[in-house]
Amino acid sequence: MLTPDPSASGEQAFDVPRHVAIIMDGNGRWAAKRHLPRKLGHRQGVEAVRVIVRAAGEMGIRYLTLYGFSSENWKRPAEEVSDLMGLLRLFIRRDLAELHQNGVQVRIIGEREHLEPDIVALIEEAETLTHSNDQLKLIIAFNYGGQNEITSAVRRIAREVKAGTLDPETITQETVAAHLDTAGVPDPDLIIRTSGEKRLSNFLIWQSAYAELVFTDVFWPDFSPERLKEAVLEYNMRDRRFGAVGEPVKS
Ligand code: IPE
Ligand code: IPE
Ligand code: MG
Repeated sequence: MLTPDPSASGEQAFDVPRHVAIIMDGNGRWAAKRHLPRKLGHRQGVEAVRVIVRAAGEMGIRYLTLYGFSSENWKRPAEEVSDLMGLLRLFIRRDLAELHQNGVQVRIIGEREHLEPDIVALIEEAETLTHSNDQLKLIIAFNYGGQNEITSAVRRIAREVKAGTLDPETITQETVAAHLDTAGVPDPDLIIRTSGEKRLSNFLIWQSAYAELVFTDVFWPDFSPERLKEAVLEYNMRDRRFGAVGEPVKS
């Protein structure tokens, strides 16, 4: 069940961020610690995805963005790249029906051009099937890089200016946001990164302007609903001022 249980939400004395984004890092180290191949770390990572998607919906989170494959991850050995592609296939094939049943809307952000045609077809199938769902919005960043995304947005804006449909003087921050892959999605309130690394690695670099960042040492396959709740509680202790003074503001 992905809608928040009304009796449970009545007891929630904390503010649930509308949009949580997660940099799912540490699959390789999780496996290495167990003398297992990295591939098994990634496979276990997919299990964590299933658990966290469910938990996020139950908590009342409206948007969940997961970083699955960065535009820089092509630098990895071909075999590992192929394993990661295979896991996206597996995730969509195995979980799409259940996600749809639970009212989850799936959207994939990132560059599709260099992905295998069958993966692009699966992505399109997932998006089309779940298009009208209005429970949790699950956004998967796959072959995604923030600098790439902004560059593509600039290219699209430039084309409109060239075509005479957009006056450069009317370009605002909203114009830029509307040309990003995340158009229509509110900026993340909370970004979590697992595995102890403290960087964004090209994730949502425009959208993270005022996100609260929470870093945890836990490797992604060990990330659990309890850890998610801990991160949300830490988020609740932050004063979000958005540059202003005075009373803390929560979005
Ligand atoms: C995260 O785990 C998954 C992806 C980046 C696709 P890693 O594979 O980066 O794991 P570590 O960081 O090497 O432990
Ligand atoms: C970021 O993790 C990308 C994903 C989680 C998909 P990486 O493991 O690729 O990041 P770096 O190389 O440590 O910055
Ligand atoms: Mg990593």
